[in-house]
Amino acid sequence: MPEMAEVQRGLQDVVALESRICFIDGRQGRLIYQGYDIRDLAARSTFEEVAYLLWYGRLPTATQLEDLHRRFGELRTLPDELGQRIDQMPVGAHPMDILRTAVSALALFEPEETKPGASSIGGAQRLTAVLPSILGQFHRRRSRLPPLKPRPELSQAAYLLYALVDREPTELESRALDVALILHADHELNASTFAARVTASTLSDLYSAVTSAVGTLKGPLHGGANERVMELLDEIGQVDRTEEVVKAKLVRHERIMGFGHRVYKVEDPRATILREWSRKLGEAKGDLRSYELLRALEAVVHQEKGLYPNVDLYSGSIYSLLGVPRDLFTPIFAASRVAGWTAHVLEEYQDLRLIRPTAKYVGAVDLPYVPVSQRG
Ligand code: ACO
Repeated sequence: MPEMAEVQRGLQDVVALESRICFIDGRQGRLIYQGYDIRDLAARSTFEEVAYLLWYGRLPTATQLEDLHRRFGELRTLPDELGQRIDQMPVGAHPMDILRTAVSALALFEPEETKPGASSIGGAQRLTAVLPSILGQFHRRRSRLPPLKPRPELSQAAYLLYALVDREPTELESRALDVALILHADHELNASTFAARVTASTLSDLYSAVTSAVGTLKGPLHGGANERVMELLDEIGQVDRTEEVVKAKLVRHERIMGFGHRVYKVEDPRATILREWSRKLGEAKGDLRSYELLRALEAVVHQEKGLYPNVDLYSGSIYSLLGVPRDLFTPIFAASRVAGWTAHVLEEYQDLRLIRPTAKYVGAVDLPYVPVSQRG
């Protein structure tokens, strides 16, 4: 057998491609979208501005931003055929399964957008606009809420909240979600974005790439962690039980969700910002229970394992305070990350090279072939 390079398990530290979209400085705890620090974007911009930035590589002018708002409003309506299919899906299904299936099905009704290799910002805008509608169509039926309307006057954050909780969010609530959407919009070659780029690198279409990404985001080691964090808080119940619960988990070699990261060696800057929003929203609503439990959890996990929080630690507490059911936390992540996924897919089309790594073969060779009649 020829000598092969060492295996990088999980492709850790492998530099797979060049990208202009997102930079993570894992040692300094910095995150940059197209040159702009995430802290500036979270403090001053909107999800719409960030989506534009990811797709076009520059911040929009006031007119361009207005245009994007209008496009999102126009592109929110689901094809009737898809709405009917979502209405036939099992109400007990996880919304991430609904989302994956619905994104895939959407392609059937939008032939123009799905031409293989179509390098289309229109397709990216359509997918970003429509994901909240898919979630709203499903969630409203299972919760017996009134049918969804496109509400073109609402920002993506306010529309997503309206779609999921069926009420006018306050300014603070929609800003809290807007910031969460900004912070989740991209993260370099995370697993779901990589999955999207692998799919796109075969010259497959945007909808197939996003379908791959949704399926990848679903896992608890990736986007699914935010839902599990809230389950952990239930298990802990009160601050003085935190140490006992965490230690018992660590003895069993269980992972503590919302902690650790492949790239960050210090605190994830998104966690720093979301922690502040969890406190701010908790104070406004007179409910700091989750915030206080999370603070206690952070202290114990750092003391026991030296691990820092990641983006998933505080997001769930914010979504809970907004009244969003837990199984919609990861779908909210998807409704933001779709901007990044599509930006990466479009970049992949511009600089296309089939992504196809190799494996180190550790199986047998030269086995003598035994005819089926002689196998024992
Ligand atoms: N809880 C307990 N131990 C942990 C955790 C954790 N959350 N994270 C890492 N470790 C430990 C591992 O057990 C391992 O210890 P060992 O060397 O004694 O076996 C060591 O730290 C290194 O862990 P790896 O799994 O090799 O690190 P990797 O870079 O692959 O892990 C990951 C990154 C998957 C995110 C991990 O930290 C984890 O499982 N976290 C919990 C799930 C989570 O919060 N995911 C969301 C990540 S952010 C996102 O995707 C949006």
